[in-house]
Amino acid sequence: DHTNADTLRTPIVAVLGHVDHGKTSLLDKIRGSAVSEGEAGAITQHIGATDIPLDTISGMAGELIDPTDFDLPGLLFIDTPGHHSFSTLRARGGALADIAVLVVDVNDGFQPQTEEAIDILRRTGTPFVVAANKVDTTPGWNPQDGEPIQKSLEAQSERAESMLNENLYEIIGQLSDAGFSADLYWRVQDFQKNIGVVPLSAITGEGVPDLLTVLMGLSQRFMKEEMAIDVFGAGEGTVLEVKDERGFGATIDTVVYDGVVRNGDQIVVGGQEEPIVTEIRALLQPRPLEEIRTEKKFEKVAEVGAAAGVKIAAPDLDRAMAGAPVRVVRDRPVEEVVEEVKAELAEIEVDTAEDGVVVKADTLGSLEAMANALREAEVPILRAEVGDIAPRDIAVAETANQDEHKAILGFNVDLLANAETELENADVKLFTDEVIYQLIEDYETYVEEKQR
Ligand code: GTP
Ligand code: MG
Repeated sequence: DHTNADTLRTPIVAVLGHVDHGKTSLLDKIRGSAVSEGEAGAITQHIGATDIPLDTISGMAGELIDPTDFDLPGLLFIDTPGHHSFSTLRARGGALADIAVLVVDVNDGFQPQTEEAIDILRRTGTPFVVAANKVDTTPGWNPQDGEPIQKSLEAQSERAESMLNENLYEIIGQLSDAGFSADLYWRVQDFQKNIGVVPLSAITGEGVPDLLTVLMGLSQRFMKEEMAIDVFGAGEGTVLEVKDERGFGATIDTVVYDGVVRNGDQIVVGGQEEPIVTEIRALLQPRPLEEIRTEKKFEKVAEVGAAAGVKIAAPDLDRAMAGAPVRVVRDRPVEEVVEEVKAELAEIEVDTAEDGVVVKADTLGSLEAMANALREAEVPILRAEVGDIAPRDIAVAETANQDEHKAILGFNVDLLANAETELENADVKLFTDEVIYQLIEDYETYVEEKQR
């Protein structure tokens, strides 16, 4: 219970990295569950938030952490898929995450999405550590389940250790090429100047205690001031996902990063046409250690303080957008809050042209990422929107001048049932995929073949 207004909130930790480098496995290990087993094609489809209380962290970190050294309540981890959707993690024009874990497969090193993640981290000035994952795949490795990495290294042959070191120095070199001075974390004196690299395995858990220790230490030392919030302030958050929930209708999975959100609060949410003004009917929270996306039996709560993942049920949320801001109105004129939300959304607008393709994406962040990728590929956009593919989109695509532009590119979205016949009867080509570069590649191949 909050006795004074200024309290430290949980730091928000984004887990980023290239496809298959082990982000979900790492969180699974930390969480002790196996969310990734239920994932389509083993790719994380959506973003989830997991709150790990300090007790659990210190339990896992064992001798490395003395919990009395910390007054932060724990860590709130956000998993992101290997494709571009992590750009959804925005807040008030900046980054939603206070700190990030960049997961890099020790054998693969830097890959395109690693570079992309680094770019976002640099742009947003987000402090990060590198998890050099999959050390257990080093030939001749002698696994030491759940042990700190130094203990594990003591148990390795000279040959295995030197092979691992070679890979680790490769990554340190790649970080340096990217403009970050980095070293193995135990050699880092000043984490503000140098990036710490933590060798670990998401499968055997060795090195995971070290990662948790570094994350807690970093948050405690460098971010304590930013974590001090007015716990009674009007809540602010970001929509991670819009989902229909039996008995509740459309709900928004939200990460609250400031203030408090209470049941019955009036809120303003970024919508597909206009900001949505509505009133909270229920706040549904996953219990600690459970994944917000898979939690079926939600617990109704009266209020949620930052930082936390919460599902908000309220009327009229079906036009809410993933990646959009959520603001509690409380004690302010509602118009003021609506203007705030509009201003934030205006930052994310996509440039459109007189002629071009129609783009649909699942979140604001992925729409923005699609627009960036299409700009690089020199494909003009006629219209770009968040949401599933509707009859209207097909009608718009048909109005394109050039034949090759009579196309819809859908990222992580479905074709609505009532749009199916429309599409059959229209001279419009539909491309859908869950990976942005794949989607654009498919479209480019189609255009090339058309031009032959
Ligand atoms: P996306 O969500 O698709 O971007 O992938 P991800 O980064 O979440 O990777 P995920 O955790 O799904 O792991 C990909 C594959 O690598 C799975 O088959 C994991 O079992 C395997 N893997 C992850 N971490 C390790 C590790 O430390 N050691 C070994 N041997 N395998 C690992
Ligand atoms: Mg994943």
